[in-house]
Amino acid sequence: MDQQKLNQLLSEMSLEEKIGQLVQLPGYFQNGGTITGPAGDPGLTQEDLRLAGSYLSVIGAEKIRTLQEEYMAAHPHHIPLIFMDDIINGYRTVFPVPLAQGCTFNPDLVQQGASVAAKEAAASGVHVTFSPMADLVRDARWGRVMESTGEDAYLNGLMAAAMVRGYQGDLKEKGTIAACLKHFAGYGAPDGGRDYNSVELSPRTLKEDYLPAYKAAIDAGVAMVMTSFNTLDRVPSTANKWLMRDVLRDEMGFDGALISDWGAVGELVPHGVAADFAQAAQLAIEAGVDMDMVSPSYAKHLKTLVEEGKVDEKLIDESCMRMLELKNKLGLFENPFRDASKKEEDALLLCDEHRKVAQDCAEKSFVLLKNDNALLPLRSEEKVAFIGPFVDNKFLCGSWAIFSDDQDTITLKAALEQQEGTSPISFAPGSRVMDKDGIVLGFQKAIPEETLDEEAALQEAVEMAKKADKVVLALGEHREFSGEASSRGTLTLPHCQQRLLDEVAKVNQNITVVLFCGRPMDLRKVQNKAKAILVAWFPGTEGGPALARTLYGHCVPQGKLSMAFPWSVSQLPMHYNEFSTGRPFTGDYRTARFGSKYQDMPKYPLYPFGFGLSYTTISCSPVTLNKAVLKKGDAITAAVTVKNTGHCTGTETVQLYIRDVVGSVARPVRELKGFRQVTLRPGEEKEVLFEITEDMLRFWDIHMNYVSEPGEFHLFIGSDSTTDNKAAFTLEA
Ligand code: NOJ
Repeated sequence: MDQQKLNQLLSEMSLEEKIGQLVQLPGYFQNGGTITGPAGDPGLTQEDLRLAGSYLSVIGAEKIRTLQEEYMAAHPHHIPLIFMDDIINGYRTVFPVPLAQGCTFNPDLVQQGASVAAKEAAASGVHVTFSPMADLVRDARWGRVMESTGEDAYLNGLMAAAMVRGYQGDLKEKGTIAACLKHFAGYGAPDGGRDYNSVELSPRTLKEDYLPAYKAAIDAGVAMVMTSFNTLDRVPSTANKWLMRDVLRDEMGFDGALISDWGAVGELVPHGVAADFAQAAQLAIEAGVDMDMVSPSYAKHLKTLVEEGKVDEKLIDESCMRMLELKNKLGLFENPFRDASKKEEDALLLCDEHRKVAQDCAEKSFVLLKNDNALLPLRSEEKVAFIGPFVDNKFLCGSWAIFSDDQDTITLKAALEQQEGTSPISFAPGSRVMDKDGIVLGFQKAIPEETLDEEAALQEAVEMAKKADKVVLALGEHREFSGEASSRGTLTLPHCQQRLLDEVAKVNQNITVVLFCGRPMDLRKVQNKAKAILVAWFPGTEGGPALARTLYGHCVPQGKLSMAFPWSVSQLPMHYNEFSTGRPFTGDYRTARFGSKYQDMPKYPLYPFGFGLSYTTISCSPVTLNKAVLKKGDAITAAVTVKNTGHCTGTETVQLYIRDVVGSVARPVRELKGFRQVTLRPGEEKEVLFEITEDMLRFWDIHMNYVSEPGEFHLFIGSDSTTDNKAAFTLEA
């Protein structure tokens, strides 16, 4: 439809119809869909339902076709519905959780994953996914770190843009869906790491650290944006006119549709900025929120607000047009069913090709944190005991894989049994996932009861460990312990699992821990018992085969931490790109007094950002620069030579960090500015080059201008964020 026809359509619609386009109803109104927020009866009438423009959490080609047909027939202008869902790390074929995808440092692979998810979801009738989440995260207590790609704004921007490209293609092609960037803005910085909590960010920190990843997704053409639940400077985002109109639209150039988060318009009341739903609706529409997800505020109050002259009808027209334009971009006026097809669903969902991409992504997301005496990989002749509650566990997809079927997941045990060259092996659960008195409130899926005789299971495991050459302990956190509304105050393993590790360690010291988690955890009591630690995250449908291959060396770990594992939960929030402070401290916390540190623990994480080992060793030469002075418009080339000094082929992610030594405002001790992945055979070496240009050195200066400042810069190239492989250059005035 061309713009003229859209204008014509808008001009023919009644006020009620226009408001209807701004209302999204939850799937439970249509007998379906996972409930992803507080559910209740919003008190809508049949007429409200007849005119609502969108559904959330409805899936299935046949269901959506029928619903669309019936709805359009009854709609005064036969405007199609738009169906939106949370397709976060895959639809039916599930990929590793986004935090793990961040560890691949491979935007192309992440794009491929998003494109697989889009193909499957589109076949099931979905039009929009509520992904990517580009929120910067610095506090592992926050459960939603699982859904972000980590603590670095640059990496997050690359990943968010890759996901947008993967989902959307050009939006006209078959197998594409629109992406919805979330949660605007700053949702990743809740006080105390507690979900939904208030956010305080200085204007500079917001611009410098938090907005860039959203901007990258906007520049990649993301079709929608979602507001965040939190307050920012005491204003809830959903009512924040400055944030939505001045920042998001005017400064950042977003011109697509803006949706609230689940119930967030109504939540302006408990936030204490609106007296009732009517005032909430007024604040949100004035802020420029086009669609009200689930709350009854728009459906019940916008009409009266317009009739009473409190809300200008122009605002309704503006928002309605954006929703119509989105439907138009998706081609819904020409083909309201888009790709929804039972036949395509049968052919595409979980097809071999998709499973292969998921397995590849899982293999590349595993992070090897420790591997003393080359305990890994396992060898086929070794007697290995696989012990732990995650050995034969199908819940490997993370809490956001709400449209997957856990039965499709291949467990580690099943994969090992199928893989050649793994005998002799034995299996035992060893412990429950959760302590008996632990509470799991799962709002996504039913939580299966754990029925295990704890003492007998522990005994069996210890006996098995005694007889084995090596033990692999598959441990971790419950999948409902990360994700939305899943903040934690402790980051250690449940007691029952720690006890299992401690008891096994008494009889066998050759322990590898494979860790399943949706966040960085406190591994102090794990790393002193385990000789090897492999972080598997929640690896998705193909997690089992990917792990079996990795543990036996058929593929080599190459993931790098997208978020540091803290030494202790009490260090949080933390991030590698911190400031020096006036009393920088880099030594041993036990030896100096007046530095920015703790008296009783290190200030550094246990495993830093960018860290990850391989089964091989890769050396990196000192950095050389082709010149020492950078002129504007010119470039410096920084070079290192990396060499595989070990015994198997491996892939290194060579990372470039830069420090601006003196700025008009304090500058981070270093910031990631680039990375390259190189695969090397044993003995092979390659030169890795990075171009440094002036635009990479810009920041928001003391006057809030985005500029570079002449002076000295340090540049670091190495295998993680702590590298001291350094060179210096000057930016010419
Ligand atoms: C609330 C979450 O914050 C958001 O990320 C999600 O997309 C919506 N619920 C819809 O389920």
